[in-house]
Amino acid sequence: MNQAFVHTRSEGAIHHITVDRQDKLNALNRAVLTELAAAFDAARNDDDIRVVVFTGAGPRAFIAGADIAEIRQLDHAGGERMARQGHDLALAIQNLGKPVIAAVNGYALGGGCELALACSVRIASHNALLGLPEIKLGLMPGFGGSQRLARLVGRGLAMEMMLTGEPVDADRALELGLVNQVVEPEALAEAASALAGNLARSAPHAMRGILNAVNHGADLPLADGLHLEVGLFADLFDTEDMREGTAAFLEKRKPEFKGR
Ligand code: COA
Repeated sequence: MNQAFVHTRSEGAIHHITVDRQDKLNALNRAVLTELAAAFDAARNDDDIRVVVFTGAGPRAFIAGADIAEIRQLDHAGGERMARQGHDLALAIQNLGKPVIAAVNGYALGGGCELALACSVRIASHNALLGLPEIKLGLMPGFGGSQRLARLVGRGLAMEMMLTGEPVDADRALELGLVNQVVEPEALAEAASALAGNLARSAPHAMRGILNAVNHGADLPLADGLHLEVGLFADLFDTEDMREGTAAFLEKRKPEFKGR
């Protein structure tokens, strides 16, 4: 699917979604948000896609945030609409039902950082800068950052990052658990593809169960989260892939998961 600002391509079961608005450091205007929603929607509905790699085009930015020129024009109702559009997209990414790997090349600020936070895993290049600088505009995060960042790195660090608006570099982000891995810029695409390749060979239903358990369980009291896990675990006993995985282990061979 090739849209004005969002390009997609599939390599086997790996699907790449790339924001390409490089003259504005891939900032999220309304058109980009709409195109991203369409791209993730298509990825969700395509059973041949088992894992998504999400990145920004060019060497400078993953996404430098929501489009400040557009934000400037909004009133109260417009701000609310914009936050809802951002939330819908972040939730579509989080609840895609397949892993989404954010390959963070350069700036991941504001809405860019918030979309990265909605992904399952984040790999950053050494030149990445991640942060929620909205405070510097007299604003606050509106695409879920105030909730997801605090859940990922803890309230104290999230509070500091949001109140100061200062971004963290890749090494600090790794230390905080904000990213999973840091690689040289020229190795980023390969690192993301390597992880994607690994996940593409995994059992899709089991991955969906894990995504579901972690994403929904994290917001529940422990007893409810454990109850959720029981149901998701039991559901996997109805899959061919579970029979294949356990048989392959006992037969000392590699499993071949078919997503059934
Ligand atoms: N919204 C709209 N345009 C943006 C943007 C954003 N979030 N981030 C960058 N741009 C645009 C710039 O206005 C500039 O456009 P121009 O060439 O037409 O003037 C272009 O992208 C390049 O950015 P520039 O600021 O010139 O690059 P830089 O290297 O000097 O600085 C940043 C890079 C990321 C530090 C700086 O662009 C920045 O602070 N961006 C805003 C980040 C932010 O606050 N995001 C949260 C928004 S809620």
